[in-house]
Amino acid sequence: KKQPVSILIKNIKELIQVRETNVLKVSGADMKELPTIKNAYLLIEHDTIVEYGKMEDCENIQADKTIDATGKVVLPTWCDSHTHIVYAGNREQEFVDRINGLSYEDIANRGGGILNSAEKLQNTSEEELYNQSVKRLKEVIKLGTGAIEIKSGYGLTVDAELKMLRVIKRLKKEFPVKVKATLLGAHAIPKAYKDNQKAYVDLVVNSMIPKVAEEELAHYIDVFCEKGYFTLEDTERILKAGLAHGLTPKIHVNQFNAFGGVALGVKYNALSVDHLEELSDDDVKALKGSNTMPVALPSCSYFLSIPYSPVRKLMKAGLPVALATDYNPGSTPSGNMNFVVSTACIKMKMTPEEAINAATINGAYAMGVSNMYGSICRGKKANVIITKEIPSYHFLPYAFGNNHIETVIINGVEIS
Ligand code: NIG
Ligand code: FE
Repeated sequence: KKQPVSILIKNIKELIQVRETNVLKVSGADMKELPTIKNAYLLIEHDTIVEYGKMEDCENIQADKTIDATGKVVLPTWCDSHTHIVYAGNREQEFVDRINGLSYEDIANRGGGILNSAEKLQNTSEEELYNQSVKRLKEVIKLGTGAIEIKSGYGLTVDAELKMLRVIKRLKKEFPVKVKATLLGAHAIPKAYKDNQKAYVDLVVNSMIPKVAEEELAHYIDVFCEKGYFTLEDTERILKAGLAHGLTPKIHVNQFNAFGGVALGVKYNALSVDHLEELSDDDVKALKGSNTMPVALPSCSYFLSIPYSPVRKLMKAGLPVALATDYNPGSTPSGNMNFVVSTACIKMKMTPEEAINAATINGAYAMGVSNMYGSICRGKKANVIITKEIPSYHFLPYAFGNNHIETVIINGVEIS
């Protein structure tokens, strides 16, 4: 079927996240503002947003296809800046074990957790891994995600990490959504290195990073900086090596313990510091004046029953906040950004405006794509969600757990 070259969406009840100038992120009190046009139109040509405005100014506009959005809200697609959607199998047994009283830490200590996923992935062919990952990517696109960051980190050998990153590269090629890849070789200490952590960090620094950079398989370098995983010293070595090979830091910090990982990320100009369920005053101070985006992952808090990131502290300090899913088999087997936005409102007391800013423009920033994604702005990619008929955009987080999306448009093409 031939795709229309231009699409006019008219009678939009509320066109939200409209940005006249191409702002790259919104911070602090500005996050309370979600610029909106009521009774609006949006014009798409090819893969680009070319015009928008009030319906009364739409009279002379012609397009190959017109969509009537009476009673519906239109917004930019979600920008999910933190996922691990390339993985093999699942860990539903650990879920049951946790219900029966074991903690996430107990499970990791008996060789479950990330090591469990790594074993599964090492024994899965690249083709099969691709097929499993395709299902997840299709699922999240239907849920309105139009840009996604995907990490390696369930390989934990040079070969298996490269296998994961090649799968990400293939997803990027085969799907119209924006994909950014991150090397997370330092996700856990493999069994073989249990008593020689330094040797594993050597492997990441001397082998994984150079190979990944040489094959141009990743943009970002990530480390799980956490007690029982990688220390500040390990993290610093890996970030330095990544930077030397052109990989920008984007790191897991403060999921369970706050011990200086945030300041370290800022020191190396990390694009984002993610998790932050624990957050000290020093962490907030370190972030002030930096280019680093703090990213909260409320579905992870929900699933593991750990604290929600105290995002109000960040916003009060004038800082920006982004929201992402963390879609992975261990701590967040869900890639639903609608649920993330709802949970941020319900559990973290973000206003709908703050949560939507965090899940669109600031999410785009946290994966380095906010020049082209994350807002309704002339010249940006035509990635938009059209909702079903709803009373207002507040209804999106309010009526949680329901699917309010009717149509997803990616690069000017309706996804069916
Ligand atoms: O972001 N925290 C580290 N990594 C993942 C979980 C990994 C797993 O349990 O498989 C996360 O939550
Ligand atoms: Fe994660």
